[in-house]
Amino acid sequence: ELLAAMSQPLLQWYDRSARVLPWRERPTPYRVWVSEIMLQQTRVAAVLPYFERFVTALPDEQALADAPQDQLLKLWEGLGYYNRVKNMQKCAREVVACHGGRLPGDYCALLKLPGIGAYTAGAIASIAFGQRFPAVDGNVLRVMARLISCDSDILQPRVKKAFGELVLSAMPHHRPGDFNQAMMELGATICLPNTLPLCPSCPLGDICRGRALQTHHHLPHKAPK
Ligand code: ADE
Repeated sequence: ELLAAMSQPLLQWYDRSARVLPWRERPTPYRVWVSEIMLQQTRVAAVLPYFERFVTALPDEQALADAPQDQLLKLWEGLGYYNRVKNMQKCAREVVACHGGRLPGDYCALLKLPGIGAYTAGAIASIAFGQRFPAVDGNVLRVMARLISCDSDILQPRVKKAFGELVLSAMPHHRPGDFNQAMMELGATICLPNTLPLCPSCPLGDICRGRALQTHHHLPHKAPK
């Protein structure tokens, strides 16, 4: 049905239209991790120059663990949310102490590291290690809510978890990392927030229940806090 039908058109669209991004060309665990932390509060275009400078100055977990804090803050200056980079160093030190200096490929081990939650662990496990784990950010929640025309409150943790399970059931065994990135990319470029979705250009337009029912403009639903 719906979920089984989405991966093929989604991946074909991704192959045609995905932006060329430095962490996609060489998706090592370290580069995927750095890019995902930078992208958590910042847009792709703003991240690009920071990413290159950061991974050139600090090319691996060991270099990040050893960096003086003033260098870290300088590399991050302008990105904001400085706790992100302080947590990354804490994480890098733990990786050096407990994992031989390399981010582990085990999802549960990733989740235990400082600053790595379900989203980041899923992104690293799928994109860098080719494992089937969902990586559900705000873009993916919006795409899924519209695709299945679901008006549950996406701010509820149990709803996020349920959406993660739906994403996993739709994820092909080959290319799990590309599937996650295609979902993010669709949310960032086509399935836009509010009243702006570009449905005529969407690879999932023909199977989208929200589009068919004209509910997509109101989705996803976020209950007032
Ligand atoms: N936003 C966060 N991570 C992303 C990724 N890997 N690709 C596209 N958009 C993203």
